[in-house]
Amino acid sequence: MRNLLPLIGSHPGGRSALTCRYRCGDACFQEIPNTSDNEYAGDIIAGALSRRSMMRAAAVVTVATAAGTAALAGPAAPVAEAAPLTGRPGSKPKPKPTAPGARGLRFAAVAPNKDDRVTIPDGYGQNVVIRWGEPILRGAPAFDPDKQSAKAQAGQFGYNNDFLSLLPLRGERGRQVLVANHEYTDEILMFRGYDPASPTREQVEIAWAAHGLSVVVVQEENRTGKLAPVNRHPLNRRLTATSEFRVTGPAAGSPLLRTSADRTGRKVLGTLNNCAGGTTPWGTTLHGEENFNQYFANGSSDTDKRYGIGTAATERKWERFDKRFDLAQEPNEAHRFGWVVELDPYDPDSTPRKRTALGRFKHEAAQPRLTADGRPVVYMGDDERFDYFYKFVSSKRMKKGDSRAAREHNLTLLDEGTLYVAKLTGDSPAAEFDGTGKLPSDGEFDGSGVWIPLATGTTSHVPGMTAEEVYVFTRLAGDKVGATKMDRPEDVEPSPRTGRVYVALTNNTDRGKAGKAGADEANPRNANKHGQILELAEHWDDPAGDGFAWRLFLVAGDPEDPSTYFSGFPKEKVSPISCPDNVAFDDHGNLWISTDGNQLGSHDGLFGVATLGERRGELKQFLTVPTGAETCGPVIQDRRVLVAVQHPGEVDGASVEKPASTWPDGPGRIVRPSVVAVWRKDGGDIGV
Ligand code: FEO
Ligand code: CA
Ligand code: CA
Ligand code: CA
Repeated sequence: MRNLLPLIGSHPGGRSALTCRYRCGDACFQEIPNTSDNEYAGDIIAGALSRRSMMRAAAVVTVATAAGTAALAGPAAPVAEAAPLTGRPGSKPKPKPTAPGARGLRFAAVAPNKDDRVTIPDGYGQNVVIRWGEPILRGAPAFDPDKQSAKAQAGQFGYNNDFLSLLPLRGERGRQVLVANHEYTDEILMFRGYDPASPTREQVEIAWAAHGLSVVVVQEENRTGKLAPVNRHPLNRRLTATSEFRVTGPAAGSPLLRTSADRTGRKVLGTLNNCAGGTTPWGTTLHGEENFNQYFANGSSDTDKRYGIGTAATERKWERFDKRFDLAQEPNEAHRFGWVVELDPYDPDSTPRKRTALGRFKHEAAQPRLTADGRPVVYMGDDERFDYFYKFVSSKRMKKGDSRAAREHNLTLLDEGTLYVAKLTGDSPAAEFDGTGKLPSDGEFDGSGVWIPLATGTTSHVPGMTAEEVYVFTRLAGDKVGATKMDRPEDVEPSPRTGRVYVALTNNTDRGKAGKAGADEANPRNANKHGQILELAEHWDDPAGDGFAWRLFLVAGDPEDPSTYFSGFPKEKVSPISCPDNVAFDDHGNLWISTDGNQLGSHDGLFGVATLGERRGELKQFLTVPTGAETCGPVIQDRRVLVAVQHPGEVDGASVEKPASTWPDGPGRIVRPSVVAVWRKDGGDIGV
């Protein structure tokens, strides 16, 4: 028999077995879906890349070491200048930090702990903004876990909040629009007496209604950072596993997307496993459909296998209640998930769209920015061990302003452009990477990269694949062109101050195992338990935009572990961190990192780290989350930090009857994933 409530983190991916089962369909125990040997794909790459772009890639190394000025731009503004990666922390000693902490990070770091609560710095206050099950739509009842119904859940805040976005709401004082993802459901923690072998139709339909997205207007309290939901606001909205979505872009209508229920290949019911996302400069939100594979039974094709779709029944057994989840009956249904969804939260009647131009994989997130000439670029990670990092560059420019014409135009930006995958090359000799994480002799994990084009509109750049195939089977396109196998690319965030892009690579315990890819300069540790953060600088002066420079900004872990790296900042002055996942910026240029699956014996948390100036690399823990939870969706405003506390109580052996956590309402009350706001009690700005 399994031990009751063992320590979390007993699984290779860093979380409890319960998390693995419900969140990603035991991905860590499945075979690695990427069995491609793409390391000798030079011929194919040469076919896919122009000679010109290869030459530019070579030139990147030179640019990367040249001094340059970081561009100053707001998050919605174009990055006007290239922001090359400058300086080598290993080449000259860093000046000793003198200020009392980087601006925006002046708080007393929270110590690692295992308390069943949200622990925040002294002098700060917090409130639970909204919990799973709180009614947000007209007619939805108050939450009662013992009388839950699918109809009630469809009008209530969903389960397992992950990505969060807070958008301005003009004309309504003190109000903002909160958009949240509901990644997945933990049936064993939702239903008393749940029998995993035979879920009831009602339980399954509640789970469908608890997935998806929420839009809910929130009201600020005067003089604090406290937020409360505005029930029944006309913008409030729920989208679930059965709501209607439109498929747009170059693969819309493809025979690969048609099913018996949708002969057009343009209308899908539902969005699933929405993990992280992004907020666009034109006021919409993006939502990544991540581990969609786990909802589909009886996969049989090679492409199903490459996406980790199993050949048997699923854990949740939805295929018993709707045949579209049975690929033996509807082989194309799984092709209709694994996309980036774009939602217009200001138009409650709009149909959200699945954007095929951004490719299909396990989308962790999708974070846009603008090129110097105003075209959106969307960065995207495929969260799987040894999978790839992508970007999409639109061929259209964003129109400024809020006119109807501008909004309509901007809703077409993500349908036309080029999809690329990243290939990274280190600048130090390969022999210097033995998998221990030891810094190479040039003092830095760094190098250059190329964006390999996969498809532009209906034109494929991948030999042997049509454009439709590139979009629907994007992972296979990445295999063919020799993309770099990364340590689980998760969330991505461009710095609003410099334009540099930060990519969280959570972990990869299989790196270096027999038959699998070994350490390289961007993924320098074998059996990588703690992850790293990559910093990337585009070369915007290159009109093709196909070259970049990169280096590791952070190699996570216990600072006493010699393989860790904090951009050269004194290690005795930083907090331990493990498994970086979601990332966000504050207005001071600090990167905020939430973690998923801490392997250092503490609960997960939220951290801030300076990216600029003499304190670059100074990392401080801002909060910890309750037992079994992951920290998600950070939003950092001047006077408020917002986090999603996802899957609290998700510990092996836990159930409604035997909870591992009773957060947020205490003993005797059911554990509820919730959103938390944190602010300074004296009304001041965060961390100044
Ligand atoms: Fe849903 Fe990649 O975490
Ligand atoms: Ca190097
Ligand atoms: Ca995540
Ligand atoms: Ca983010």
